[in-house]
Amino acid sequence: MYYPQELVEEVRQKNDIVDVISGYVSLKRQGGNYFGLCPFHSEKSPSFSVSQHKQMYYCFGCHKGGNVISFVMEYENFNFPEALRVLAERVNVSLPEVEYTEEMRQKESRRAKLFEINKEAAKYYFYALRSEQGALGKRYLTDRQLSEETMQRFGLGYSLQYSDGLVRYLKKKGYDDGLIRDSGLAVFHEKYGMSDKFFNRVMFPIQDVNGKVIGFGGRVMGDAKPKYLNSPETEIFDKSRNLYGLNFARTSRKNGIILCEGYMDVIAMHQAGFTQAAASLGTAFTPGQAMLLKRYTQNVYLAYDSDDAGVNAALRAIGILRDAMLSCRIINMQPYKDPDEFIKNLGTEEFEKRIEDAENSFLFEIRMLKRNYKLEDPEEKTRFYTEIAKKLCQFEEEIERENYLSAVAEVHQINPQSLRKLVVSQAAAGVKVRLPEARSGIQNKNTVEDGQKKVQRVLLTWLAEEPGLFAKIEGYITPEDFTDELYQKVAKQLFEDHEAGHDNPAAIMDLFDDQQERNAVAEIFHTPLARIETKEEREQAFRDIILNVKRNSFAYYTAKMGKDVSAVQRVVEAKKALEALERMHFVLD
Ligand code: CTP
Ligand code: MN
Repeated sequence: MYYPQELVEEVRQKNDIVDVISGYVSLKRQGGNYFGLCPFHSEKSPSFSVSQHKQMYYCFGCHKGGNVISFVMEYENFNFPEALRVLAERVNVSLPEVEYTEEMRQKESRRAKLFEINKEAAKYYFYALRSEQGALGKRYLTDRQLSEETMQRFGLGYSLQYSDGLVRYLKKKGYDDGLIRDSGLAVFHEKYGMSDKFFNRVMFPIQDVNGKVIGFGGRVMGDAKPKYLNSPETEIFDKSRNLYGLNFARTSRKNGIILCEGYMDVIAMHQAGFTQAAASLGTAFTPGQAMLLKRYTQNVYLAYDSDDAGVNAALRAIGILRDAMLSCRIINMQPYKDPDEFIKNLGTEEFEKRIEDAENSFLFEIRMLKRNYKLEDPEEKTRFYTEIAKKLCQFEEEIERENYLSAVAEVHQINPQSLRKLVVSQAAAGVKVRLPEARSGIQNKNTVEDGQKKVQRVLLTWLAEEPGLFAKIEGYITPEDFTDELYQKVAKQLFEDHEAGHDNPAAIMDLFDDQQERNAVAEIFHTPLARIETKEEREQAFRDIILNVKRNSFAYYTAKMGKDVSAVQRVVEAKKALEALERMHFVLD
């Protein structure tokens, strides 16, 4: 840990979780909690909950959760110190400058080091391009009509002809072999040892939304194959959750973001003033990327290649964007292959017009569908219309469906009345009309173990919400009664904090480095409590839960008695407590 615990605590307490998350997600108050649409998965009804009292968030849909610090980490893709710095700044708490002593370097997280290595590599390639030996790369980029300024802005570089220039450079900077290999920038041969992954290519550093280099794409300067080589996925490079150029596009203040296929397309568009362009990373567009776009815009324009592969990729992207409830239009690149070629040939103004004339994604889908049918054949024509009717059924809102129906009818000269009848018959025939997604949260997985864990979670949630209850369970329930390993760790801390007089479940989160574990901890504290109306019901429910937890604990340690000496003691104690509990009645306020 870089900063003293008290300081971390201060930063967390001054940053109210509802305030902070409201800056990212629109929240509505609902009872004691706030709800909104989850920023981490796509959904139509809010299952993302934020508790002011507990200073935690939890999504009942995708099960991500944590405290204010882990929210910023997850959302911004920051590590702990980075998130803390942002939050400290927000509330004017000054953090001490971290001195990077040799010892801290050792301790520093691998992630931070991988970021450093990528940054070093970007510098190395950057200077190489501008050196004498980089003349070849420079010429290539200049021939592709990139200005000096554009090359600077995108940090373009060049990997030299040597096979291990970067590896030697990084070693000299003090990085060890293992880390260099894990950065994906070097490859390891049994016979020759380590060598650079990239050589003799122009280099495109790939930045995350915060502008940090997380990987590279490298292009050959001729026709050799493969045309592009990309960094492999690493701990900091998740290709499904980043987009090339988005660090610039997100602040472009244009209406919408243009999504295209290639690095060169992004760069050409930015150079022409279309600074809202971004591209996926040599892989197909993903739902994670859609969620990322959704943070910055509601309108996406597709500027994919105009060949068949590009059209198919666009059709897939449209489906993903629709699932994420983003509006999507398609830019027509004909007669050119991609935005880079288009702009070179027809210029900025023409491209601007194409953006204005971009086609609604549904109409684009229908137009592409049409290519599969020979419309002079009446049978095929009928099938085409039926297919359209089926697709129209996906719109749940009548008015929306009607609007699309009229538009399609007009474009393809279909009688709207007939098409409407076809839609009705298709809907009746049980075509899947998309149902609103089920409230995904509280599914009962009815195994005994899940049931046991759930009761333990209910108790922990209840204790966190009403610390007054600790007094009631004293002498009956100890942290050891929470038999799941993670739950026990959480319970220990919760009980300890309570004894020390500061109930603070949000702080417990920081004990866990792993995002999966933090999600599980958040889940523990967000277990839905059954609806309880009267005082009697409340007392009855509380007693049931305590008994349940204790009985489970008794059974658990009984089973362990043969192997574990301390289990015997637990069993004896549990038996005594159970006897007392079975006779007693809890009186709650
Ligand atoms: N790509 C890749 N590996 C390849 C080919 C392509 O990763 N062997 C990815 C790159 O991200 C590339 C994108 O797919 O930017 C689009 O490919 P393509 O259209 O072939 O390349 P362009 O971006 O048009 O590149 P250029 O203009 O330099 O030919
Ligand atoms: Mn191209």
